[in-house]
Amino acid sequence: MNDLQTVVASAQAAFALAHTPADLENAKAQYLGKSGRITELMKGMAALPVDEKKTRGAAINQAKQAIEAALNACRQALADAQLQAQLQAEALDVTLPGRQRGQGGLHPVSLTLERIGAIFGSMGFDVAQGPEIESDWFNFTALNTPENHPARSMHDTFYVEGGTEHAPNLLRTHTSPMQIRYAVQHVKKYRAATQEGGQGTLFSGAMPEIRVIAPGRTYRVDSDATHSPMFHQCEGLWVGENVSFKDLKYVFTDFCRTFFENNELVLRFRPSFFPFTEPSAEIDIQFPSGPLAGRWLEVAGSGQVHPNVIRNMGLDPERYIGFAFGMGPDRLTMLRYGVNDLRLFFDGDIRFLSQFR
Ligand code: PHE
Repeated sequence: MNDLQTVVASAQAAFALAHTPADLENAKAQYLGKSGRITELMKGMAALPVDEKKTRGAAINQAKQAIEAALNACRQALADAQLQAQLQAEALDVTLPGRQRGQGGLHPVSLTLERIGAIFGSMGFDVAQGPEIESDWFNFTALNTPENHPARSMHDTFYVEGGTEHAPNLLRTHTSPMQIRYAVQHVKKYRAATQEGGQGTLFSGAMPEIRVIAPGRTYRVDSDATHSPMFHQCEGLWVGENVSFKDLKYVFTDFCRTFFENNELVLRFRPSFFPFTEPSAEIDIQFPSGPLAGRWLEVAGSGQVHPNVIRNMGLDPERYIGFAFGMGPDRLTMLRYGVNDLRLFFDGDIRFLSQFR
């Protein structure tokens, strides 16, 4: 191997060792740079006689071309390798299913509340909303449940700041305070219109019937598979001059059959006690067939509005009478969809909730 072949071979070896474009350019400078091996060889030609210069020059040029060819091949190889690495790193698997935009939906209990609103709306009921932080007056006293009344103990709840020492504000334990709030507004409106009865006197003038439902969140100190410290209720109130228990039975039966889309559904009004209704009844339903057939399932408390409550609404109980009910939309949702643990509704697990979309 002559000296030129040795230079070419060592250049090829040096280029092959380069792992990055920078390494390669450094190696290139050692051979083709200003003071590289090829340039040195060219300089060495000066001392040669003229006829040798020609053949030596041609041979050096050949060697230079061989080195340039090796350099270009290595540059290309490095570029290819880099591209390959990049392609691999940024690889798209076009066979993967596309990522879809998540489709939202209403919470199952919200679906129930909407359904309740639609059914009672079709029967001429207004839908009202009220505060979740309630005063002792609306939650208890106005509902014929004075301080120390034993019925309050079942309603042990979350007391919050505000109110008075003996009557602190609280998270409402039921939606029944809305009976008072709504009725008072209603009465105020028609009392002003008829200019009958001043402040403090009970209204016995003419007014359109009160027909309202009030859905919303309620709170009690209770927590197990069928009780949650936060739960939902929907109050119903119908007050007029000739509204009786038979209207309650008719309205609630119609509601349940429509809600569950089942005309064979049976209802039972089981005598019970609430301070704000007299007489009072617990409402149970029974499915004629299906997995729940044959069992009585409690869905609401109800009764004829107590005269004291009618008074607290600002109405004269000699003229006005009506009924109220309070049902559990959470329970209705469980029954409608066959869910057996109430806590599932409030865990926020998207796998559960997305089934109701
Ligand atoms: N408020 C009662 C409860 O929470 C239910 C009820 C409402 C009963 C209206 C009678 C009339 O259990």
